[in-house]
Amino acid sequence: MAGGMMVSGGGPPRKYEGRTTGYVILTCILAASGGLMFGYDVGVSGGVTSMDGFLKKFFREVYDRKHSANLNEGNYCKYDNQKLQAFTSSLYIAGLVATFFASYTSRRFGRRPTMQIASACFVIGTVLCAAAQNMAMLIFGRVLLGCGVGFANQAVPLYLSEMAPTHLRGGLNILFQLAVTVGIFFANLVNYGTEKIDPWGWRLALGLAGIPAALLAIGGVLLLETPNSLIERGQMEKGKRVLQKVRGTPNVQAEYEDMVAASEVAKSVKHPFRNIVKRRNRPQLVIAMLLQLFQQMTGINAIMFYAPVLFQTLGFKSSASLYSAVMIGCVNVLSTIVAVAIVDKVGRRKLLLQAGVQMFIAMLAIGIILGVQLKDTGGLPNGSAIVVVVLICVFVSGFAWSWGPLGWLIPSETFPLETRSAGQSITVSTNLLFTFIIAQAFLSMLCHMKYAIFLFFTAWIVIMTLFVIFFLPETKGIPIEEMQGVWGGHWFWKRYVPYDPALEQEMQAKNAADVNPQQEKIAQAI
Ligand code: BGC
Repeated sequence: MAGGMMVSGGGPPRKYEGRTTGYVILTCILAASGGLMFGYDVGVSGGVTSMDGFLKKFFREVYDRKHSANLNEGNYCKYDNQKLQAFTSSLYIAGLVATFFASYTSRRFGRRPTMQIASACFVIGTVLCAAAQNMAMLIFGRVLLGCGVGFANQAVPLYLSEMAPTHLRGGLNILFQLAVTVGIFFANLVNYGTEKIDPWGWRLALGLAGIPAALLAIGGVLLLETPNSLIERGQMEKGKRVLQKVRGTPNVQAEYEDMVAASEVAKSVKHPFRNIVKRRNRPQLVIAMLLQLFQQMTGINAIMFYAPVLFQTLGFKSSASLYSAVMIGCVNVLSTIVAVAIVDKVGRRKLLLQAGVQMFIAMLAIGIILGVQLKDTGGLPNGSAIVVVVLICVFVSGFAWSWGPLGWLIPSETFPLETRSAGQSITVSTNLLFTFIIAQAFLSMLCHMKYAIFLFFTAWIVIMTLFVIFFLPETKGIPIEEMQGVWGGHWFWKRYVPYDPALEQEMQAKNAADVNPQQEKIAQAI
């Protein structure tokens, strides 16, 4: 595993020394626990809201409706309840608000304290949810979990990219998404197992979130602050010592100097949020925000949150619903692994376009089958129900090798250093905003729009695929200091970033100390 790596800044490539130390491996585990926690929260709520014990205790109305639905209530409206949706969505709105505080704490106090705040929120939130006696406790617990998500999603990816040796950075970005999908899958399995423990299985399902929460808490105690953050906050010597420890060698001068230079640049930007709205940053900002909108409008979380509920709507029994959700979770993990393997070979645009066609066909077919066969009462015929589950798997696999990881990867590789941290919090909070909207609205939309909700998502898939065709330049293998050239040469974005050699040079100088995964690949190839 030992070996130096070449790093290209604006000038000739520089060689950093270092090997993959035990520390870096611990860092990967930490990444996994932050992502696992997020994924677990995404996956667990749908299962819990389909459990009778849970509904009887908190949502009596929904419980009664669920059990009489086939007699006199519409299939599509069994779960249409604002409070039930608030149980799921409260987490995301809290996460949205927390992201902005997290941006401040991670800059002012460091990544490590920010992760410690996240794990404290996770632990207390998990205890409150698992022990909930009333609605207030339950929702308050979810809000705390949401704060955990906001703090963790800001700090963990930053922590990772700063701790990892440069050649692992790009891979770790997608590893975070992989951990999210594993968390969802784990939650699907737990839902399946705990549903049979009536009436308190839901407590166990919510309580098992304690495992990733505890892992993150242990990480928060054991792990060191990142050298970048120490240097940024003036603790130069300590920063250097940590860098030596993490890289497993005393010869870190080149990397250290680059970090100092990068932190000077970062410090010179007094108002990152004001800077990011400047005209020349418009393409990255608009693309990062639209990617989040589109990612959620694929309808993925309608499925991730509400798959068990959706399957019951189709007429499945409780455990068949949870079992199908497990299958979908498994497809999600496996397809994300495909993304890890091929994203740097195939490129972003091709993946998004291929998956766009796949998701379009699957969603359209689901809409048509439900439209033709699912009436207000009675379930789907057996054969069609199986076809719908298969189609959902086809849809999820397309999402998992495209919009899932790329929705996060593309913003992270297009924001220049000076706006990267602000860019990360805008990306996370935009994502959480639309996730919140889907969580709060989907069951009501299903009730009012019936099968047409799937046609609604199909239309969005068309729009986002057109967006990719016309507005999203390929960013595979482009060093960050050449991004200005990409915008300047694009038929649409050039009106915001006219090609200007002087600006190009200035950007190159500013980014000289910055390192991006593509840069290293190019540098390694030289
Ligand atoms: C999305 C989440 C989604 C997950 C599914 C992520 O990229 O941001 O909202 O639940 O993928 O795997």
